[in-house]
Amino acid sequence: MAGQVRNSHLCRHAREDGNHGADQERARLKKETFAALFQAAGKARAHSYAPISKFNVGAAFLTDTGNIYAGTNVEEAGFNFTIHAEQGAIAQMVVAEGRTRITHLVVIGGEPADGMACTPCGHCRQLLLEFAGDDLEIAAAGPDGDIRLETTLGELLPHAFRLSNILDR
Ligand code: THU
Ligand code: ZN
Repeated sequence: MAGQVRNSHLCRHAREDGNHGADQERARLKKETFAALFQAAGKARAHSYAPISKFNVGAAFLTDTGNIYAGTNVEEAGFNFTIHAEQGAIAQMVVAEGRTRITHLVVIGGEPADGMACTPCGHCRQLLLEFAGDDLEIAAAGPDGDIRLETTLGELLPHAFRLSNILDR
């Protein structure tokens, strides 16, 4: 599931009316970005195939090329080959654009009002690291759009083992 966020919109420089205006513009763009991601993640989550866990997850991220990719979890009876929401979205991004940088991610999980923050699991954090920096902004939201945790990939995966550990020797 891919969507387009108007590039000019996201990349537009903040109005030069002082820091306050720039801050406000940044906050507005962030809100707009997360709203678009929440919508895409929710749409994907509606198709979650989770007959075993009954835990429906939707994930959507924005790339620095202005595109949105979304995914949902897909389980199987043998338990070993579950596809996580983030993994599905990453696979679609690579098919469509190759290696692209992810800048913002929203993951939706849990039930209304349970307050649980569904963050990307360890495997997904490691996979995201191939396509994002420590500064990747991550919001864990409930199905009603309530953001339960705002964090970064660097916070979720500190002291990471990354590609540079094995390539830049
Ligand atoms: N799940 C995801 O889709 N992403 C994560 O990173 C956390 C876990 C899914 C996998 C499984 O279908 C369900 O949530 C319960 O673990
Ligand atoms: Zn995962």
